[in-house]
Amino acid sequence: MISRAPIDLPVYTDEVVRGLTSRPKTLPCKLLYDDRGSALFEEITRLPEYYLTRTELEILQERAIEIVQAVGTPVSIVELGAGTASKTGTLLRALARRQMRLKYFPVDISPAALADAKKRIRGQCPNALVRPVVADFSDGFHFLREISGRKLVLYLGSSIGNFEWNDAVAMLSRVREQLMPGDALLLGTDMVKPADILVPAYDDAQGVTATFSKNILMRLNRELGADFDLDLFRHVAEWVPSRSRMEIFLESMRPQTVALRMAHLTIRFIAGERIHTENSHKYTLEMIERMLCVSGFRLEKTWFDKREWFGLNLARA
Ligand code: TRP
Repeated sequence: MISRAPIDLPVYTDEVVRGLTSRPKTLPCKLLYDDRGSALFEEITRLPEYYLTRTELEILQERAIEIVQAVGTPVSIVELGAGTASKTGTLLRALARRQMRLKYFPVDISPAALADAKKRIRGQCPNALVRPVVADFSDGFHFLREISGRKLVLYLGSSIGNFEWNDAVAMLSRVREQLMPGDALLLGTDMVKPADILVPAYDDAQGVTATFSKNILMRLNRELGADFDLDLFRHVAEWVPSRSRMEIFLESMRPQTVALRMAHLTIRFIAGERIHTENSHKYTLEMIERMLCVSGFRLEKTWFDKREWFGLNLARA
């Protein structure tokens, strides 16, 4: 009997097929972050045009003591999507000065990132007790309930902005359900600003963001046996004021056909046709207040950088 090794299709295959056969075509943004994508995103955070990461870090460094005072101590810290926890050190150090014992629970889907996070925080704040939690947000936030005492949940970066409004509210509401009155949330939000600042942040001069954007296609070539020609697509980043968001696309530069061998799918593109891959919402203070309020939080205070480009919002359950 002839036996063939079964072909293990990636778990995301159905989503990709659905997205590429929809009109307009879409691809799930989570596909951006394989190992190469994560490394490219790290590189983006250091680009001169990508002000977000360094601006948020600056606020955290300058306001750590004020933030910790406003939160109230003692608290345990839970960081959603902690990654390698590269921004959390200052806040933890400020807390460690005010309370004897400090528990820090970094939550992420990547065990490798969490191992890095643990090492980094151990170095920056030796008296913090670090307890990594490997979890996917789609599993819910039950782990929150198992943490005793008052909690501060961190959701830093502009990740909330990658959700559509209703999904952001649903996500924050699910977090709220697992919290007790008095628990707090510190939420990072990128603010509305002129297009000539926003667009380059998502389409830099060196082309790192374009490479990051096209990494999805490279991944599909490798993992789904696709034959996307990366030179026949261009990265497009547009500011859409009516939706208050940056929209990211891959645009076919001419008519072409692409085969996804392992998914038994062939798709056609006309010239200029786009695949929508990501949104990044930008907020006003009113929008933030409303989003938090309908999710069961009350906005207490927002800290900005001097240009008011990025906000750190403290909300109470
Ligand atoms: N969370 C990041 C943001 O919205 C993700 C991101 C940055 C991104 N640059 C990108 C996503 C370019 C797609 C393409 O700022």
